[in-house]
Amino acid sequence: MPIYTRCIQPQSIDPILFTNREDEYRHIKEILRSIILARGEDERRLMIHGDRGTGKSIFLRKVLSDLKQEIDFIPVIVDGKTSRNAEELLRDVCENLALELRGEYKRDEKAICEISYLDEISRVSTVTKGWARSRAEEIEATAGAEIGILNFFKLRVGIGGKETGIEELTRTVEIEIDSRFLRQLLSHVIETVSSDLDKEVVIAIDSLDQIHDKDQIAEFVHEIFKHRKSLIIAVLRSEAITLEFHRSFRDPIVIKDLSGDALREILAKRIENCPEKEILDQKLPPIADKLRAITVNPLSFLTWVHFLCTNTELDPETMFDDLKGFVSNFYGVDPENASVISKFFLNAGNPFLTRAEIVKQTEISEGDSETMTENGILVPDNLYKPQKYRISPDLAFFKLDT
Ligand SMILES: Nc1ncnc2c1ncn2[C@@H]1O[C@H](COP(=O)(O)OP(=O)(O)O)[C@@H](O)[C@H]1O
Ligand SMILES: [Mg+2]
Repeated sequence: MPIYTRCIQPQSIDPILFTNREDEYRHIKEILRSIILARGEDERRLMIHGDRGTGKSIFLRKVLSDLKQEIDFIPVIVDGKTSRNAEELLRDVCENLALELRGEYKRDEKAICEISYLDEISRVSTVTKGWARSRAEEIEATAGAEIGILNFFKLRVGIGGKETGIEELTRTVEIEIDSRFLRQLLSHVIETVSSDLDKEVVIAIDSLDQIHDKDQIAEFVHEIFKHRKSLIIAVLRSEAITLEFHRSFRDPIVIKDLSGDALREILAKRIENCPEKEILDQKLPPIADKLRAITVNPLSFLTWVHFLCTNTELDPETMFDDLKGFVSNFYGVDPENASVISKFFLNAGNPFLTRAEIVKQTEISEGDSETMTENGILVPDNLYKPQKYRISPDLAFFKLDT
């Protein structure tokens, strides 16, 4: 019987699960602290990168949540995974900023009123001038601190004071809420809020490489950098780093591979309070020990362990064949094909190779190699101009058979 446990959580980035990386943790936390405290300095940016699944996302959340206990700032974390393009990412920043500000301005009637319009704007594609005017009137009727929305309506939408005859005629004129509008709105609100609360707004964009429309990553970086009022942290996979990133971020931080011991602790932490702890403690160690000897990637390691727990008998004897089932389940490719290509790469030390080299040296067809790129079995060296590929760390379990 498989063990239907939910404790392995290969996708979780809950900072509560974080272990290890003490040195990097201290180092990055201090860098971040100093950048946050260097208020007023221009162009404060930090880029964190590394391979898929090395632990960038959990690291970011852990460091920010711990730092929040020590110094006062407003963290706004968004994730490229859930956005199609640059505009959607900016909308997420607005929405999450609104959420954070609700906590900051609990008892401020005016601010709360403005925050609800910040939230509303983040969800619509156009507003009319009339809409902005009536919102402005509602805001004006309240009292307390402002987050800058009213002011922005006045500056950008041109409403203020008593409604003029001309304005009355332009009530139905639509204003497009595009990237430019959102960026200006954000700049305005962030500037108002950070000086009013005397707190820094830190915008962290996780999985920036995962925006669906890849061409827009550069655009987003461009957009967000026009905004100089807050600290920006970008987290992405190494293969997505373009020249533009290199120019914009001077001292990137790399999240490196983890040791086998670290992987053991990561797993132990997940099982610590698990309802299935007893049986997992009994059946998992022989399997987990074999797996952590062949990978340095926590995501691959946890994904295999989770798959084996919930789909197999956790038998070390059949574990290799069981994991072939993982390849067909997760990647939708024939495990035998995957086996040929994986073993080839693993024997060669997993170098980056051109497609022609792969086809020639492994004798898999051009078509199959294309499918494997689409399925994520072959990982490019560069997201935009891929020239070379190597095997995904998820396939490293074929080492068990070499
Ligand atoms: N230091 C760590 N402590 C505990 N779990 C970790 C650690 N590093 C990575 N993980 C786990 O490994 C998986 C992949 O981590 P994630 O942060 O999503 O990687 P990335 O963002 O680099 O792709 C997640 O399940 C995460 O919880
Ligand atoms: Mg991530």
